[in-house]
Amino acid sequence: MTIKKKKKLYEGKAKILYSTGNSYSLIQHFKDEATAFNAKKKEVIEGKGVLNNFLSEFFMQKLNSVNVPTHFIRRLNMREQLVEKCDIIPLEVVVRNIAAGSLSKRLGIEEGKRLPRPLVEFYYKDDSLNDPLVTESQISTFEWATETELGEIFEIALRTNDFLCGLLSAVNLTLVDFKIEIGRSFRSEGEKLIIADEISPDTCRLWDSKTKKRLDKDVFRLNEGSISIAYTEVADRFDLLPKNVRSAVR
Ligand code: ADP
Ligand code: TMP
Ligand code: ASP
Repeated sequence: MTIKKKKKLYEGKAKILYSTGNSYSLIQHFKDEATAFNAKKKEVIEGKGVLNNFLSEFFMQKLNSVNVPTHFIRRLNMREQLVEKCDIIPLEVVVRNIAAGSLSKRLGIEEGKRLPRPLVEFYYKDDSLNDPLVTESQISTFEWATETELGEIFEIALRTNDFLCGLLSAVNLTLVDFKIEIGRSFRSEGEKLIIADEISPDTCRLWDSKTKKRLDKDVFRLNEGSISIAYTEVADRFDLLPKNVRSAVR
């Protein structure tokens, strides 16, 4: 079925959303812009959008196949995918296996220390407030999600972590931590939560299991080299880029 790109609905830091001819889907376009620290650091990195389109397709499709529901329907072209439209819960759900990033900074835990068990954290999605860390009690009080939804979000987050840890360790990558966004699906009767947005090296910390080399957006955040080289390496470990795409991004 041909999908018509209708109206630009939203342009964010990394993606653009377009309406389609129907009410339940959206076109998600991946841009080449890389931003960090709430867009204080910004750069155009040729090929990044293509890499994240393919990588997010791969991770979301794998999750769909083990019945962790995601918004992904199908990839349309190099930079765009068709996704299920949902009502985004205004939380960034972070799961951590190893201390790094803001956890290390906030609590003084040495980067690289394995946590006794996966840690789930919630950040309120609001750029003007710098996405602050919030408690479960705040989430209930301000009705960002119900208690039932929160239980389901924990379950989705931990299942996603288990599955992705296994998938990545098979190619010698360690999933240090990741962020997901979750939305309420309009399609099914009764409430259903699905993973939305993207899963890519922009939203995960991935280290080579042996050398601990970073293969994620920290390379950009910390000025450690080229993210297109790092992201291509992740894609290559799964051999997921068609030949013509690989030569176009590198
Ligand atoms: P930001 O908004 O932080 O700048 P992006 O550039 O990645 O981030 O923008 C993508 C936006 O699309 C995000 O706000 C995200 O919550 C929203 N989004 C992602 N998937 C869906 C979906 N399936 N339905 C509705 N909104 C979505
Ligand atoms: P943090 O250590 O900076 O809090 O990041 C935790 C994880 O969340 C890490 O994998 C990167 C990801 N993340 C995003 O996807 N978007 C963001 O805006 C931030 C701050 C982190
Ligand atoms: N997503 C945020 C930004 O784009 C922060 C980050 O990823 O470091 O600025």
